[in-house]
Amino acid sequence: INIILLGPPGAGKGTQARKLVEERGMVQLSTGDMLRAAKDSGTEMGHKVAEVMARGELVTDEIVIGLIREKLAEGGKGFIFDGFPRTLGQADALGELLAETGQTLDAVIEMRVDDEALVRRITGRFTCGNCGEVYHDETKPTAKPGVCDVCGSTDLTRRADDNEDSLRTRLLEYYKKTSPLIGYYYAKDQLHSLDGLAEIDEVSRQIAGVLG
Ligand code: AP5
Ligand code: ZN
Repeated sequence: INIILLGPPGAGKGTQARKLVEERGMVQLSTGDMLRAAKDSGTEMGHKVAEVMARGELVTDEIVIGLIREKLAEGGKGFIFDGFPRTLGQADALGELLAETGQTLDAVIEMRVDDEALVRRITGRFTCGNCGEVYHDETKPTAKPGVCDVCGSTDLTRRADDNEDSLRTRLLEYYKKTSPLIGYYYAKDQLHSLDGLAEIDEVSRQIAGVLG
Protein backbone atom coordinates (compact mmCIF):
# COMPACT_ATOMS: atom_id res chain seq x y z
CA ILE A 1 0.00 0.00 0.00
CA ASN A 2 1.03 3.60 -0.61
CA ILE A 3 0.24 6.36 1.87
CA ILE A 4 0.74 10.08 2.36
CA LEU A 5 1.67 11.54 5.75
CA LEU A 6 0.21 15.05 5.75
CA GLY A 7 0.77 17.69 8.40
CA PRO A 8 2.53 20.94 9.28
CA PRO A 9 6.25 21.18 10.06
CA GLY A 10 6.92 19.29 13.28
CA ALA A 11 3.71 17.22 13.14
CA GLY A 12 5.80 14.03 13.41
CA LYS A 13 5.72 12.85 9.80
CA GLY A 14 9.39 11.86 9.70
CA THR A 15 9.22 10.16 13.10
CA GLN A 16 6.26 7.99 12.09
CA ALA A 17 7.65 7.30 8.62
CA ARG A 18 10.83 5.87 10.12
CA LYS A 19 8.79 3.57 12.36
CA LEU A 20 6.75 2.33 9.40
CA VAL A 21 9.96 1.57 7.50
CA GLU A 22 11.26 -0.41 10.45
CA GLU A 23 8.05 -2.24 11.29
CA ARG A 24 6.52 -2.82 7.86
CA GLY A 25 9.43 -2.54 5.45
CA MET A 26 7.78 0.34 3.64
CA VAL A 27 9.86 2.84 1.63
CA GLN A 28 10.05 6.42 2.93
CA LEU A 29 10.06 9.11 0.25
CA SER A 30 10.80 12.37 2.03
CA THR A 31 11.19 15.27 -0.38
CA GLY A 32 12.75 17.27 2.47
CA ASP A 33 15.48 14.61 2.89
CA MET A 34 15.99 14.41 -0.88
CA LEU A 35 16.35 18.18 -1.15
CA ARG A 36 18.79 18.29 1.78
CA ALA A 37 20.82 15.54 0.05
CA ALA A 38 20.79 17.58 -3.18
CA LYS A 39 22.00 20.58 -1.23
CA ASP A 40 24.92 18.60 0.23
CA SER A 41 25.86 17.18 -3.18
CA GLY A 42 26.80 20.67 -4.37
CA THR A 43 24.93 20.38 -7.69
CA GLU A 44 23.38 23.36 -9.45
CA MET A 45 19.92 22.29 -8.31
CA GLY A 46 21.30 21.91 -4.79
CA HIS A 47 22.49 25.51 -4.72
CA LYS A 48 19.16 26.75 -6.02
CA VAL A 49 17.12 25.00 -3.34
CA ALA A 50 19.41 25.64 -0.37
CA GLU A 51 18.49 29.30 0.06
CA VAL A 52 14.80 28.70 -0.51
CA MET A 53 14.76 25.97 2.14
CA ALA A 54 16.73 28.02 4.67
CA ARG A 55 14.09 30.76 4.39
CA GLY A 56 11.35 28.20 4.93
CA GLU A 57 9.69 28.67 1.54
CA LEU A 58 8.58 25.86 -0.74
CA VAL A 59 10.80 24.92 -3.66
CA THR A 60 9.12 24.72 -7.08
CA ASP A 61 6.67 21.95 -7.97
CA GLU A 62 8.83 21.13 -11.00
CA ILE A 63 11.84 20.22 -8.86
CA VAL A 64 10.05 18.06 -6.28
CA ILE A 65 7.85 16.30 -8.84
CA GLY A 66 11.05 15.48 -10.76
CA LEU A 67 12.58 13.94 -7.63
CA ILE A 68 9.50 11.82 -6.93
CA ARG A 69 9.23 10.73 -10.57
CA GLU A 70 12.83 9.40 -10.40
CA LYS A 71 12.14 7.46 -7.20
CA LEU A 72 8.93 5.89 -8.52
CA ALA A 73 10.73 4.88 -11.72
CA GLU A 74 13.25 2.95 -9.60
CA GLY A 75 10.34 0.69 -8.65
CA GLY A 76 9.44 -0.86 -5.33
CA LYS A 77 6.20 -0.74 -3.45
CA GLY A 78 4.76 0.38 -0.18
CA PHE A 79 5.71 4.04 -0.41
CA ILE A 80 5.28 6.53 2.42
CA PHE A 81 5.11 10.02 0.94
CA ASP A 82 6.51 12.23 3.69
CA GLY A 83 6.27 15.96 3.07
CA PHE A 84 4.93 15.44 -0.46
CA PRO A 85 2.58 16.53 -1.96
CA ARG A 86 2.55 20.07 -0.56
CA THR A 87 0.54 21.89 -3.22
CA LEU A 88 -2.54 21.01 -5.26
CA GLY A 89 -0.30 20.86 -8.34
CA GLN A 90 1.90 18.27 -6.63
CA ALA A 91 -1.16 16.29 -5.56
CA ASP A 92 -2.45 16.11 -9.14
CA ALA A 93 1.02 15.14 -10.37
CA LEU A 94 1.29 12.34 -7.81
CA GLY A 95 -2.09 10.96 -8.90
CA GLU A 96 -0.86 10.87 -12.50
CA LEU A 97 2.53 9.34 -11.66
CA LEU A 98 0.91 6.56 -9.63
CA ALA A 99 -1.61 5.87 -12.40
CA GLU A 100 1.21 5.69 -14.98
CA THR A 101 3.02 3.06 -12.92
CA GLY A 102 -0.18 1.11 -12.21
CA GLN A 103 -0.21 1.98 -8.52
CA THR A 104 -2.85 3.31 -6.15
CA LEU A 105 -2.93 5.75 -3.28
CA ASP A 106 -4.46 3.91 -0.34
CA ALA A 107 -4.65 6.43 2.49
CA VAL A 108 -3.84 10.01 3.36
CA ILE A 109 -3.07 10.37 7.04
CA GLU A 110 -3.44 13.87 8.41
CA MET A 111 -1.56 14.48 11.66
CA ARG A 112 -3.21 17.27 13.63
CA VAL A 113 -1.05 19.29 16.01
CA ASP A 114 -1.68 22.79 17.31
CA ASP A 115 0.72 25.61 16.44
CA GLU A 116 2.13 26.10 19.93
CA ALA A 117 3.16 22.47 20.13
CA LEU A 118 4.76 22.71 16.68
CA VAL A 119 7.04 25.52 17.80
CA ARG A 120 8.14 23.48 20.84
CA ARG A 121 8.76 20.41 18.71
CA ILE A 122 10.78 22.20 16.04
CA THR A 123 12.92 24.22 18.42
CA GLY A 124 13.76 21.08 20.47
CA ARG A 125 14.56 18.82 17.55
CA PHE A 126 17.96 17.35 16.68
CA THR A 127 18.93 14.59 14.27
CA CYS A 128 21.68 12.01 13.96
CA GLY A 129 23.83 13.04 10.99
CA ASN A 130 24.90 9.43 10.48
CA CYS A 131 21.68 7.34 10.61
CA GLY A 132 18.98 10.02 10.47
CA GLU A 133 17.29 9.17 13.80
CA VAL A 134 15.18 12.11 15.01
CA TYR A 135 15.33 13.25 18.65
CA HIS A 136 13.85 15.95 20.87
CA ASP A 137 15.42 17.71 23.87
CA GLU A 138 12.40 16.97 26.07
CA THR A 139 10.18 14.30 24.50
CA LYS A 140 12.83 12.05 22.96
CA PRO A 141 16.33 12.66 24.34
CA THR A 142 19.22 10.27 23.69
CA ALA A 143 19.91 7.78 26.51
CA LYS A 144 23.51 9.03 26.75
CA PRO A 145 23.95 12.78 26.19
CA GLY A 146 25.48 13.55 22.79
CA VAL A 147 25.41 9.94 21.53
CA CYS A 148 22.88 8.46 19.07
CA ASP A 149 20.95 5.53 20.62
CA VAL A 150 20.69 3.75 17.27
CA CYS A 151 24.19 3.94 15.79
CA GLY A 152 26.43 5.40 18.52
CA SER A 153 27.45 8.40 16.40
CA THR A 154 28.23 11.70 18.14
CA ASP A 155 27.31 13.66 14.99
CA LEU A 156 24.05 15.12 16.33
CA THR A 157 22.90 18.21 14.39
CA ARG A 158 20.13 20.80 14.21
CA ARG A 159 18.57 21.81 10.88
CA ALA A 160 19.33 25.25 9.39
CA ASP A 161 15.61 25.97 9.00
CA ASP A 162 14.70 25.04 12.59
CA ASN A 163 14.85 28.61 13.88
CA GLU A 164 11.88 30.79 14.77
CA ASP A 165 11.97 33.03 11.65
CA SER A 166 12.10 30.18 9.15
CA LEU A 167 9.53 28.23 11.13
CA ARG A 168 7.08 31.14 10.87
CA THR A 169 7.52 31.13 7.09
CA ARG A 170 7.16 27.32 6.96
CA LEU A 171 3.88 27.56 8.89
CA LEU A 172 2.59 30.28 6.56
CA GLU A 173 3.51 28.20 3.52
CA TYR A 174 1.69 25.25 5.08
CA TYR A 175 -1.52 27.15 5.72
CA LYS A 176 -1.50 28.95 2.34
CA LYS A 177 -0.44 26.14 0.04
CA THR A 178 -0.60 22.74 1.75
CA SER A 179 -3.65 22.80 4.01
CA PRO A 180 -6.04 22.87 0.97
CA LEU A 181 -4.95 19.26 0.43
CA ILE A 182 -6.99 18.28 3.47
CA GLY A 183 -10.18 19.21 1.65
CA TYR A 184 -8.86 17.78 -1.61
CA TYR A 185 -8.32 14.30 -0.13
CA TYR A 186 -11.45 14.49 2.01
CA ALA A 187 -13.45 15.01 -1.18
CA LYS A 188 -11.71 11.98 -2.70
CA ASP A 189 -12.69 9.97 0.40
CA GLN A 190 -9.05 9.18 1.20
CA LEU A 191 -8.50 11.32 4.29
CA HIS A 192 -7.90 9.92 7.79
CA SER A 193 -7.25 12.54 10.47
CA LEU A 194 -5.61 11.63 13.74
CA ASP A 195 -4.39 13.27 16.91
CA GLY A 196 -0.73 14.10 16.35
CA LEU A 197 -0.48 15.53 19.86
CA ALA A 198 -0.61 12.07 21.39
CA GLU A 199 2.60 10.27 22.41
CA ILE A 200 4.74 8.88 19.61
CA ASP A 201 3.70 5.24 20.23
CA GLU A 202 0.02 6.20 20.51
CA VAL A 203 0.20 7.99 17.15
CA SER A 204 1.76 4.82 15.69
CA ARG A 205 -1.16 2.77 17.05
CA GLN A 206 -3.62 5.17 15.44
CA ILE A 207 -1.80 4.84 12.12
CA ALA A 208 -1.81 1.04 12.44
CA GLY A 209 -5.56 1.29 12.99
CA VAL A 210 -5.93 3.04 9.63
CA LEU A 211 -3.59 0.70 7.73
CA GLY A 212 -5.01 -2.50 9.25
P1 AP5 B 1 10.63 18.82 5.38
O1 AP5 B 1 11.93 18.20 5.61
O2 AP5 B 1 9.53 18.03 4.80
O3 AP5 B 1 10.19 19.51 6.75
P2 AP5 B 1 8.73 19.81 7.39
O4 AP5 B 1 7.55 19.49 6.61
O5 AP5 B 1 8.88 21.19 7.88
O6 AP5 B 1 8.61 18.74 8.44
P3 AP5 B 1 9.60 18.45 9.55
O7 AP5 B 1 10.66 17.51 9.07
O8 AP5 B 1 10.08 19.73 10.15
O9 AP5 B 1 8.65 17.79 10.63
P4 AP5 B 1 8.05 16.33 10.78
O10 AP5 B 1 6.58 16.38 10.61
O11 AP5 B 1 8.79 15.32 9.96
O12 AP5 B 1 8.35 16.12 12.32
P5 AP5 B 1 9.42 15.18 13.07
O13 AP5 B 1 9.01 13.76 12.96
O14 AP5 B 1 10.81 15.53 12.69
O15 AP5 B 1 10.80 20.13 4.45
C1 AP5 B 1 11.82 21.05 4.64
C2 AP5 B 1 11.84 22.08 3.52
O16 AP5 B 1 12.09 21.42 2.26
C3 AP5 B 1 10.52 22.83 3.27
O17 AP5 B 1 10.41 23.96 4.11
C4 AP5 B 1 10.67 23.21 1.79
O18 AP5 B 1 11.56 24.31 1.62
C5 AP5 B 1 11.34 21.99 1.20
N1 AP5 B 1 10.35 20.97 0.73
C6 AP5 B 1 10.23 19.70 1.19
N2 AP5 B 1 9.26 19.04 0.52
C7 AP5 B 1 8.75 19.92 -0.38
C8 AP5 B 1 7.71 19.84 -1.35
N3 AP5 B 1 6.99 18.71 -1.51
N4 AP5 B 1 7.44 20.93 -2.09
C9 AP5 B 1 8.16 22.08 -1.96
N5 AP5 B 1 9.15 22.22 -1.05
C10 AP5 B 1 9.46 21.15 -0.27
O19 AP5 B 1 9.13 15.65 14.58
C11 AP5 B 1 9.48 16.95 15.03
C12 AP5 B 1 10.01 16.88 16.49
O20 AP5 B 1 8.95 16.48 17.37
C13 AP5 B 1 11.13 15.86 16.70
O21 AP5 B 1 12.04 16.39 17.63
C14 AP5 B 1 10.41 14.62 17.27
O22 AP5 B 1 11.26 13.87 18.10
C15 AP5 B 1 9.25 15.25 18.03
N6 AP5 B 1 8.03 14.45 18.00
C16 AP5 B 1 7.51 13.77 16.93
N7 AP5 B 1 6.35 13.17 17.23
C17 AP5 B 1 6.10 13.48 18.54
C18 AP5 B 1 5.02 13.16 19.46
N8 AP5 B 1 3.98 12.41 19.06
N9 AP5 B 1 5.09 13.68 20.70
C19 AP5 B 1 6.14 14.45 21.11
N10 AP5 B 1 7.19 14.76 20.31
C20 AP5 B 1 7.17 14.30 19.04
ZN1 ZN C 1 22.42 7.51 14.57
